Amino acid sequence: MKFLLIVLSALVVIFPQAQGAVPASPPGVITSVFGKLPSGKPVTLYTLTNKQGASVSIMDYGATIVNLQMPNRRGKLDDVVLGFDTLAPYLTNTPYFGATVGRYANRIARGQFTLDGKVYHLPINNAPNSLHGGKIGFNKKMWTAKIVSQHPAAVSFSLVSPHKDQGYPGALNVSVSFILNDQNALIVLYGASTDRPTVLNLTNHSYFNLAGTGNGNVLNHRIKINAFYYTPTDAHLIPTGEIRSVIGTPFDLRKFTPIGAAIQQTGGNPIGYDHNYVLARAGSKKFALAAEVYEPTSGRFLKVLTDQPGLQFYTANFLNGTLQGKGGQKYPQYGAFCLETQHFPDSPNHPNFPSTVLRPGEIFRSATVYKFGVR
Ligand code: BGC
Repeated sequence: MKFLLIVLSALVVIFPQAQGAVPASPPGVITSVFGKLPSGKPVTLYTLTNKQGASVSIMDYGATIVNLQMPNRRGKLDDVVLGFDTLAPYLTNTPYFGATVGRYANRIARGQFTLDGKVYHLPINNAPNSLHGGKIGFNKKMWTAKIVSQHPAAVSFSLVSPHKDQGYPGALNVSVSFILNDQNALIVLYGASTDRPTVLNLTNHSYFNLAGTGNGNVLNHRIKINAFYYTPTDAHLIPTGEIRSVIGTPFDLRKFTPIGAAIQQTGGNPIGYDHNYVLARAGSKKFALAAEVYEPTSGRFLKVLTDQPGLQFYTANFLNGTLQGKGGQKYPQYGAFCLETQHFPDSPNHPNFPSTVLRPGEIFRSATVYKFGVR
């Protein structure tokens, strides 16, 4: 709680009150039924609205962001995240739209790691690797929700992931809280503890399109990432272990650059950004600005702040126009960008990367802020 208050008061200082937008619905948290699981259990949508009229809707299935309404420069609200209108497609074919991802976000090579001399095996769900926590990651679990506060609007979700869940050791108590403040900042706070040594990497997998969901591709969005280094990968998107300078490469995004400017030179199959950036102050655990994205037509910008050492910049390369999203729109390749605050992929197999080990008695805490605005 103290941690939450410190983050909140810091943000009020960093981001003074925005002016102008007209509230769409009263500030606070409301709930609605989003759908039912095959078991008949209802899935609840929590909609957090602030004084600006901006809102975020999060469901307890996967602690997933389903809808995020932010104003453009004329004050018009648009949903700026990809996803679906109903629950059913989230249960089957989602590419992690908006989900809370764990126990280990991104890949673990060949689904295998060694901790304290013991080898652990994870489900291979992205051959030949384990991706985003395995076949039934945290994105496919029902979380227990609690409304924490009406103003600022805040909801927290918790989950117990048992010992050996998807092959991971240790019963893990994990929580993620979402707070929408009146400065259009969505604050995400993660917490976890374990009863046996384990590895942990949590993130949110929102696919943003600042022009509005389904509104073309994001190649003309301008991005800036505060990183001098990235972690190059092999053909299966596993880091080679090298920490490479971005200078002179298409990965140098230290100055605002159209996402499409050098995307064809990034390589990969499919081509595009799907890379972990080593954030400039990685190692210091200091909460800082990681990346900024600006969309010139709507005037919307997004700033991502975090205390995590890495950031996966993913340009939705695997979308191909077949997936039918909100309003029946088919989401094209590069139809969104993800900025996943995280530890580096496959860290348990790379002793030179910051450690992702969590031990009994330790409490994992982390904060990421998605601050929206217009210019
Ligand atoms: C990964 C991509 C993957 C996507 C799944 C991202 O975090 O970096 O390689 O395809 O998640 O939706």
